[in-house]
Amino acid sequence: MKYIIGNDHGGIDLVDSVEEKLLELGHEVEKVGTFTKESCDYSDFAKIACEKVLNKEADFAVLICGTGIGMSLAANKFKGIRAACVSETYSAKMSRAHNNSNVLCIGSRVIGSEVAKMIVEIFATTEFEGGRHLKRVNKIKEIEENN
Ligand code: RB5
Repeated sequence: MKYIIGNDHGGIDLVDSVEEKLLELGHEVEKVGTFTKESCDYSDFAKIACEKVLNKEADFAVLICGTGIGMSLAANKFKGIRAACVSETYSAKMSRAHNNSNVLCIGSRVIGSEVAKMIVEIFATTEFEGGRHLKRVNKIKEIEENN
């Protein structure tokens, strides 16, 4: 699978750990975030990353800002993106198993690098369960179409 990593200045501290974990799991990684701590806008990087997922240039994205919240708010404005802002492992698992999330958002001011790596590993190794959850995800698509 190919993953995009996008980050603003607030998320920069987790980028290396996330990349390392994804490479260790055998995934391809493209980084589209800022490489400096100079203040910038998370929404710009959410846009670049989500467009790549929607254009099928990548399968998933991991977006990192200070809290993960701004990234998830921006990402979820894109039709077809299901971004989950996660800070513990149970939600990471459920975001894939039940919600078929295609974008993982984490906050580098919220979690440390070891928790981030566990979250990324669980996200990357959990399959969508489908079934009754597919019906619910399809209703999210309906909401997207009608609003
Ligand atoms: C930047 O200071 C911070 O607001 C940003 O990284 C993010 O946490 C927003 O949700």
